[in-house]
Amino acid sequence: MSGAGKIVCVTGASGYIASWLVKLLLAKGYTVKASVRDPNDPKKIDHLLALDGAKERLQLFKANLLEEGSFDSIIDGCEGVFHTASPFYLAVNDPQAELIDPALKGTLNVLGSCSKFPSVKRVVVTSSIAAVAFNGKPRTPDVVVDETWFSDPEFCKESKLWYVLSKTLAEEAAWKFAKEKGMNIVTINPAMVIGPLLQPTLNTSAEAILKLVNGAETFPNATFGWVNVKDVANAHILAFEKPSADGRYVLVGKVAHASEVVKILRELFPTLHLPEKCADDKPYMPTYQVSQERTKGLGINFIPLEVSLKETVESLKEKGFF
Ligand SMILES: NC(=O)c1ccc[n+]([C@@H]2O[C@H](COP(=O)([O-])OP(=O)(O)OC[C@H]3O[C@@H](n4cnc5c(N)ncnc54)[C@H](OP(=O)(O)O)[C@@H]3O)[C@@H](O)[C@H]2O)c1
Repeated sequence: MSGAGKIVCVTGASGYIASWLVKLLLAKGYTVKASVRDPNDPKKIDHLLALDGAKERLQLFKANLLEEGSFDSIIDGCEGVFHTASPFYLAVNDPQAELIDPALKGTLNVLGSCSKFPSVKRVVVTSSIAAVAFNGKPRTPDVVVDETWFSDPEFCKESKLWYVLSKTLAEEAAWKFAKEKGMNIVTINPAMVIGPLLQPTLNTSAEAILKLVNGAETFPNATFGWVNVKDVANAHILAFEKPSADGRYVLVGKVAHASEVVKILRELFPTLHLPEKCADDKPYMPTYQVSQERTKGLGINFIPLEVSLKETVESLKEKGFF
């Protein structure tokens, strides 16, 4: 019970990754002050209130990333802050208002609150591979992406990768703020996160798998890094607990093209209707490597992709998504 007697904050607690983080923190004995946008929406809170330890050690608060000072009373008295809240949608009408403002201003708002309270010893910021790998450098089988890579905001703008831009700007601002204030922050930079859902609603990365198993005729010509949500939540906690943790941690269990994901799904679920062909006739987007040196040093032993895919499909089925 490494967390016994310790108080930590999780922002955006209703979310896919944050729900697992809250679950693991409670299991370790932490007292969790959790922010949600709408504490009156059962779809956002019931699964949290049902977690083991929630009755005794989970406190829910209302907060919005765009309201200055919204997080003050939540962060006051916390030793650790896990800032996970940030919109993750790929289809948006107004990228500035829907993605960039909440990601960037929200991060500065939360870090601003953290800087007011000396109780806060470390802030773990949920960044993304989006802030790492999008700089125009080719990604091919011989290339190794690691924590020294930074996405280029100009490249993101030209490519109209608005979510990627939002995460790139948010992480950049976080490091600048931390340097100016002498604040101890660590970033966790996961790729596509899959694995069981705790929340009753569908999140964007689990939807990527749902789209493959829900009767699609084609799979996208796309290659992603994949990582299990339990590894991601665990990495957040290790990044807080280990005094030696610092800098960025890129989290990728395996890089795989959608065709390989479909192949694994076919072996796991032979009766499922799965797409037979690629959405275009171009050569497959190449795979690339991602260094696991730092994350392994943090203590992560990645859950295999096969297990993550099995868990995801079973969870989507159990929750009635298909
Ligand atoms: N899933 C992935 O593959 C992946 C990969 C890399 C990084 N990430 C990062 O991980 C974090 C969590 O993502 P997720 O996949 O768990 O997504 P999610 O389930 O959609 O969770 C996002 C959370 O952000 C909250 N949020 C959004 N706008 C907000 C605002 N204006 N004020 C307060 N809260 C707001 C949402 O609150 P509501 O519940 O009220 O909507 C929700 O709790 C994000 O920072 C995301 O960029 C995700």
